[in-house]
Amino acid sequence: MTIEDIFTLIKGDMEQVNNLIQTSLYSEVVLINQISQYIINSGGKRLRPILVLLSANAFADTSNNSKRHDITLATVIEFIHTATLLHDDVVDESELRRGKDTANELFGNAASVLVGDFLYSRAFEMMVGVGSMKVMEILSHSTNTIAEGEVLQLLNCNDASTSEARYLEVIHYKTAKLFESASQLGAVVTGQDEATEQAMANYGMHLGTAFQLIDDVLDYSASSDEMGKNVGDDLAEGKPTLPLIYAMLRGTPEQATLIKEAIEQGGLDQIEEITRAIEVTGALDYTREIAKKEAELAIKQLETIPDSDYKTAMMTLAHFSVNRKF
Ligand code: IPE
Ligand code: IPE
Ligand code: MG
Ligand code: MG
Repeated sequence: MTIEDIFTLIKGDMEQVNNLIQTSLYSEVVLINQISQYIINSGGKRLRPILVLLSANAFADTSNNSKRHDITLATVIEFIHTATLLHDDVVDESELRRGKDTANELFGNAASVLVGDFLYSRAFEMMVGVGSMKVMEILSHSTNTIAEGEVLQLLNCNDASTSEARYLEVIHYKTAKLFESASQLGAVVTGQDEATEQAMANYGMHLGTAFQLIDDVLDYSASSDEMGKNVGDDLAEGKPTLPLIYAMLRGTPEQATLIKEAIEQGGLDQIEEITRAIEVTGALDYTREIAKKEAELAIKQLETIPDSDYKTAMMTLAHFSVNRKF
């Protein structure tokens, strides 16, 4: 199975999600429509809603349910994700997202932050509509954790003493948590037992960790065209991601000093030499290796889940998160 096969497998459900996204974005405030439509329609892999749908479908045939809570929650999760991106691009001063100008580049920081708030709160209106205290617990906690992760990362920025453990904590919070909630919710809305729900949550957590590790590899190794984001954004910010942390630890004293200064000062002046240091120290391979282990752990969580195309798709997603170029 390939990532394209996954898109085909859940095409019908995804169409419903995309329709709900469109109708739920509506606001009487024109600028809100303009910006939210811009970011939501600029593409994006829709991985987190896909996770909700795969998880729910792996346990039950949801197509006959009169209330499709999986569709609603897939939409809610994409709104939360999109809100974090609007805020993140302001904080990171990023100019390219999904192969287009970021909303902050086009509409300014203030509008991006405020429309991000609109998306968060619309997501909360919609999740209340599902009428499940458990769902609200999961998603409110998840949103709160993402905010903590972004603030923790802010504290690590320009701090060259950031350890691998501190880095991993940040990516669990800022990225893995939402993947965790997405796959857990599929089990929740189909009424699975506690152990199954936990297995799905763990699957998503490991998957999301692998996904962010590779994102941090791509920031030093991909092309902007493929990724749809500018390469080198992390270095420009002085963000101590694992490739830098490892290269600093394993490099020559000169390389270590070079990287330390780059983290402390930010900027892209030394990007060529730093990229070389990252390559020769094997920092990208090391980070990929950790991502691979996380993906394997994700797959292991699925052992007790009944076999189906949806389960195979979830295994494929784990491989994709490691091998992806975008
Ligand atoms: C981007 O996530 C933010 C990270 C956690 C790295 P995605 O790569 O899933 O973003 P889109 O939605 O496909 O653009
Ligand atoms: C992604 O952070 C996580 C969130 C948006 C919460 P990054 O800053 O690492 O992701 P990109 O590279 O901008 O997508
Ligand atoms: Mg960013
Ligand atoms: Mg960021």
